[in-house]
Amino acid sequence: MNKHIAIIGATSGIGRALAVEMHKRGYTIGATGRRIERLEELRQQLDNRIYIQYMDVTELGDAIDQLDQLADQMGGLDMVVLNAGVSHFQDESVGRETDLHVIDVNIRGFGNLASYCFERFEQQGYGQLVGISSVAGLFGWGLNIPYNASKAFVNTYLQGYRQKANHSDADITVTTIMPGFVESEMTENKEELFWVAPKDKAARQITEAIERKKDQAYITKRWRLAAWLVKLIPNWVWNRM
Ligand SMILES: NC(=O)c1ccc[n+]([C@@H]2O[C@H](COP(=O)([O-])OP(=O)(O)OC[C@H]3O[C@@H](n4cnc5c(N)ncnc54)[C@H](OP(=O)(O)O)[C@@H]3O)[C@@H](O)[C@H]2O)c1
Repeated sequence: MNKHIAIIGATSGIGRALAVEMHKRGYTIGATGRRIERLEELRQQLDNRIYIQYMDVTELGDAIDQLDQLADQMGGLDMVVLNAGVSHFQDESVGRETDLHVIDVNIRGFGNLASYCFERFEQQGYGQLVGISSVAGLFGWGLNIPYNASKAFVNTYLQGYRQKANHSDADITVTTIMPGFVESEMTENKEELFWVAPKDKAARQITEAIERKKDQAYITKRWRLAAWLVKLIPNWVWNRM
């Protein structure tokens, strides 16, 4: 074992739970986020095989340098989970500013690190790139417009990189994780959510998907059925919802 995995956005919710689960299974963890006190707390809790690094994914150049520094500290980088994400669902006011914030974090921040990690993995000859997308990426939604669109970006972006990996001499796996609802700061105090999974359960299923080198996995598994139904809904119905 002793694989080195960087989790981008490990200060709360899914990312933190994933760090704990993967550490339990023997991985060396590199944890990033902006809330450094949360990272310190995680380091104290896990005690060993854990390295922390401040990172704001919207600072594109710095984020690359910080990932490199983290990889140096860890002594290697076998896998990266791009988990950092934001949503303004049910916030009091949404508009241009909040749209741009989601685009900055979920699209520009994501694309910057995903493309860099892929290049790094090609150079070293192997690696696994994991992106945390969402079932939300399967449809446009007037109540959370930039978020759903950003996850659609993640889905097609990673599909493209998966094709590229298949044509590469390097042994690279690209895994797209598609959660439904999971308990976290993102879903806290939000109304009308259903099938909200405990974050520990989500973390276990994400870890299994990573270890099985899956192309794509729904979290929890029942969301696969929801996704199948969503794909059957014709565009004219979506347009009138
Ligand atoms: N919860 C759900 O129901 C659900 C469903 C589908 C998909 N997802 C996806 O799962 C991922 C994790 O979300 P979560 O639900 O666990 O929410 P969360 O508890 O709010 O966690 C979000 C994480 O993203 C990090 N982050 C946010 N902005 C950042 C920035 N500018 N730079 C660096 N890191 C940043 C946060 O760290 P700092 O604030 O410390 O920087 C935090 O670690 C997201 O991509 C989300 O879209 C969640």
